[in-house]
Amino acid sequence: MSRASRRYHITTFGCQMNKADSERMAGILETLGFEWAEEPDEANLILYNTCTIRDNAEQKVYSYLGRQAKRKQTEPDLTLIVAGCVAQQEGEKLLRRVPELDLVMGPQHANRLADLLEQVLSGNQVVATEPVHIMEDITKPRRDSQVTAWVNVIYGCNERCTYCVVPNVRGVEQSRTPAAIRAEMEALGQQGFKEVTLLGQNIDAYGRDLPGVTAEGRHQHTLTDLLYFVHDVPGIERIRFATSHPRYFTDRLIRACAELPKVCEHFHIPFQSGDNNLLKAMSRGYTHERYRRIIDSIRAIMPHASISADAIVGFPGETEAQFEKTLELVEDIGFDQLNTAAYSPRPGTPAALWDNQLSETVKSDRLQRLNHLVSIKAAERSQRYLGRVEEVLVEAANEKDPTQVMGRTRGNRLTFFTGNIQQLHGQVVPVKITQVRPFSLSGEPLVADQPQESRNLSPV
Ligand code: SAH
Ligand code: SF4
Ligand code: F3S
Repeated sequence: MSRASRRYHITTFGCQMNKADSERMAGILETLGFEWAEEPDEANLILYNTCTIRDNAEQKVYSYLGRQAKRKQTEPDLTLIVAGCVAQQEGEKLLRRVPELDLVMGPQHANRLADLLEQVLSGNQVVATEPVHIMEDITKPRRDSQVTAWVNVIYGCNERCTYCVVPNVRGVEQSRTPAAIRAEMEALGQQGFKEVTLLGQNIDAYGRDLPGVTAEGRHQHTLTDLLYFVHDVPGIERIRFATSHPRYFTDRLIRACAELPKVCEHFHIPFQSGDNNLLKAMSRGYTHERYRRIIDSIRAIMPHASISADAIVGFPGETEAQFEKTLELVEDIGFDQLNTAAYSPRPGTPAALWDNQLSETVKSDRLQRLNHLVSIKAAERSQRYLGRVEEVLVEAANEKDPTQVMGRTRGNRLTFFTGNIQQLHGQVVPVKITQVRPFSLSGEPLVADQPQESRNLSPV
């Protein structure tokens, strides 16, 4: 492959972690002289960054791969890479299934792509899935947005939720140092980014693996301390974080969010089920009462905060009555957004081996009923925005209507309004909300010299 003709394409499946990893891998490839190809068929390096959270996510990569594997038979110079969570789960088995593959690399190896590629280009078929200490990345990621950016704070997960593959495929928790996180955010601020989302599968675990204990006996570096440490980074106007775990969520964190103006009033706290016996079978480590208390504490201090979560229906053994407890929780709390999924048995997880699996019919029926309730509640939650002035950070043009731009409120609601993307890209604009839908809003921008009324809505 000549250097001049090196073009790459990355297809990313899965969660924000994978998106962040893909951006770092793209950065590495560009440092090596590769150029982005919009069409996979025009690329001579193709990387699939894969997800295996549910079976349908895993199956996607096989259907994509088949096509490119065929292409390789006539274009032997094509480099084919499977990265991410399926790569970690399947390892060498992937090479047997798709012998055309050049490289299979687990998520912990994302920052090592340059080394691995060197081995590939000298003629080896490489599998990199052994657990490693994740190196600080020295390459600049190629970020998809110029406005909002992901910043990893903790990799991996030490929980053992009985349905979940993530600990198997992402490995043990590894926190980055506060200094490294702040340095990345400072660079982002200098490059003009306005919003940062701090990422961890269980972000409340941040710092548990770093040295240092306070006089009161708690870990010196917690998520709360990290928020105080990074909140004044110049240029960064908004800070978000995900995902919170109810087992470790603290009142200290809520107070920090209320106190720090850049931290957005949005909490993503998956509850998974509204039934205590199911929560126990899932090994989640909390009850629905504890979950409700967390939401009450948030709303006591930040009444406007938006709340989103994840939930699973059809977990092994879930009875109709237990499922109704989930509906009850959704009814009572009124989520702004809820990601729902039918339980999918995953290789290497305890629950997959239980003999009380439910039928696909029961699962999809429950999923439909839950989704129906979710959109009713989201529509109710959207009502509260009507007539209010919201700060919208403009991210892009509205693809469906180029006379409009789109962005998000601090509470993370997608919002559209009339405007020119060239002028408004990356700006925080006060928008009076005139139309609400379950998961998005529309409004009218207020003229620039008007006082920012939305400040009055600030919960502190
Ligand atoms: N770390 C986060 C989320 C991890 S995965 C947490 O602890 O909540 C994202 C979501 O996928 C989970 O919240 C869960 O709702 C869903 N999920 C995970 N494993 C699943 C499985 N086997 N079947 C169906 N949904 C699953
Ligand atoms: Fe999976 Fe549980 Fe870890 Fe979340 S906390 S990633 S659901 S094991
Ligand atoms: Fe999927 Fe891996 Fe994320 S399994 S949800 S891409 S951690």
